Amino acid sequence: MCGIVGYVGPSADSRALDVVMEGLARLEYRGYDSAGVALVTEDGVSSEKRAGKLGNLRAALEEQPLPDASTAIGHTRWATHGAPTDENAHPHHGGEDGKLALIHNGIIENFHALKNELLADGVVFRSETDTEVAAQLLARAYDDTADLTLAMLQVVARLEGAFTLLAVHADAPGVVVGARRNSPLVVGIGEGENFLGSDVAAFIGHTREAVELGQDEVVTITPDSATIVRFDGTPTEGKAYHVDWDAAAAEKGGYPTFMQKEIHEQPHAVQDTLLGRTDDEGRLVLDELRISEDDLRQVTKIVIVACGTAAYAGMVAKYALEHWTRIPCEVELAHEFRYRDPVIDGHTLVVSISQSGETMDTLMAVKHAGDLGAHTLSICNTHGSTIPRESDAVLYTHAGPEIAVASTKAFLAQITACYLLGLYLAQLRGGTYADEAQSVMKELAEVPEKIQRVIDSMGRVREIARFMADTRSVLFLGRHVGYPVALEGALKLKELAYIHAEGFAAGELKHGPIALIEPGQPVFIVVPSPSSEHGLHGKVVSNIQEIRARGARTLVIAEEGDEAVVPFADEIIRVPATSALLAPLVTTVPLQVFAAELATAKGLDVDQPRNLAKSVTVE
Ligand code: F6R
Repeated sequence: MCGIVGYVGPSADSRALDVVMEGLARLEYRGYDSAGVALVTEDGVSSEKRAGKLGNLRAALEEQPLPDASTAIGHTRWATHGAPTDENAHPHHGGEDGKLALIHNGIIENFHALKNELLADGVVFRSETDTEVAAQLLARAYDDTADLTLAMLQVVARLEGAFTLLAVHADAPGVVVGARRNSPLVVGIGEGENFLGSDVAAFIGHTREAVELGQDEVVTITPDSATIVRFDGTPTEGKAYHVDWDAAAAEKGGYPTFMQKEIHEQPHAVQDTLLGRTDDEGRLVLDELRISEDDLRQVTKIVIVACGTAAYAGMVAKYALEHWTRIPCEVELAHEFRYRDPVIDGHTLVVSISQSGETMDTLMAVKHAGDLGAHTLSICNTHGSTIPRESDAVLYTHAGPEIAVASTKAFLAQITACYLLGLYLAQLRGGTYADEAQSVMKELAEVPEKIQRVIDSMGRVREIARFMADTRSVLFLGRHVGYPVALEGALKLKELAYIHAEGFAAGELKHGPIALIEPGQPVFIVVPSPSSEHGLHGKVVSNIQEIRARGARTLVIAEEGDEAVVPFADEIIRVPATSALLAPLVTTVPLQVFAAELATAKGLDVDQPRNLAKSVTVE
């Protein structure tokens, strides 16, 4: 959620403020409620910060420009301790002279005790934040050591919780020191300039060479160097990598919103996630998996942990994994899993799903699973993020950066990765579906083109969405894999358009929700393929009849050629035929388009819905 940028350039350079402001703009997608910068200038450390969007900070900087500088830090804050005010915005200064400035992402859990200690020593606090405690401690440690790196090492030894910290000091021009524990930080390597960022988007306009910082490490950047030490003071080297997407990929690419761009990128997101997963004979090969084949063969239970949209991807996965592997699979919201007493052991595979790789609820569930002896596997879209690092194995989705706060392309990529995992396990363990893996892979390869066809045929869905801009409530029904799709459709509408929306399992209708149906109530129904097993299609068609008879306005998502739905549908949205388990890759798309279009018609910001953050790094 908070965005962090650090920059050190040549001493003759005065671009630091521009670089940091550009980085903050690129990190806006993480969600924030205030922003600030600090520069190391000839006269000391100057800073400016404002509650609200970056525009407020820009206006303040125009009104009262800061002196030129070649060293700067910048921050976008998502409030945790203390309201989103100018005072609580970062940077925070430390020391009586205010010569130190510090920014922070995360939560310092023992800040009360540390603050009381500082208060007793006469320190005066200017904000309500936990961050200022770290700033004050660091200023004191610097007074003792006259070395910002050593001072940082002393301070992190006293902090508990999750944090990325960046600091500058007036007496250390040309230096930014960063530290990370359970919170992200990457280094950008330039020529005669270096960068720090919450993720590579912060500096992608300047360099694509990055270094991944490990857990519990401190980094010191100057214009010519990036030096890393562990919290215990031993030197180490981060993992260098080349970022394979450029600045253009992080911008809107001609679409009016990031969300529209990302919806249109879905065929690629699925295709790229499938790339390079088979050998010459068409057998699945998942190189990234670091769990031995023997251990995977002995898995007796799979538990999927995730939050929000990622959890719905997990619900889709359950149907596929159980069908193909015959391994029992549970799906659980990560925050619920973490604080109960789950029955798992060394034969349990705990699969976490996370776009950002930083969701604290999911991270804590993964750690808990590891502590209980389970094998942990992360399905993740963000290289170098914390959850894959904390897991035994990782399967990366290749959706590219997802900037809009509400997830779209990452969802389809997550589902795709889950299919890959299921087919791989089926192949590894033998049995009925081992031989089918190759034919499912062939069908999956055709899905990106089908998604494209859905995207290209969304004209009527957009019209319906605009027509429904004043609607107060929409219901979504689905069955089998269509059930999580219905939940996802409802979530998209809630978060983008702020409309009451609920998803139900169609079979549950008669157990209560049908009471909600009154004349004119719009209901989306995700209809299974007529080729589905167990007569599911017919059962859902009956559900449509039942609600229509009570006056519902039925918006039916059905396969091309499915004529049985026609008499009961007020609107039919057609999707290409797929086998039952793969259908969510096509049936989700109209619901995403509907929610985005309706929110746009209401004049809302679809990329940054109110109260939401892209990366939820607190529990
Ligand atoms: C909804 C949405 C969220 C995320 C959830 C998990 O559109 O984006 O529900 O899916 O916060 O985030 P990740 O996948 O980053 O762990």
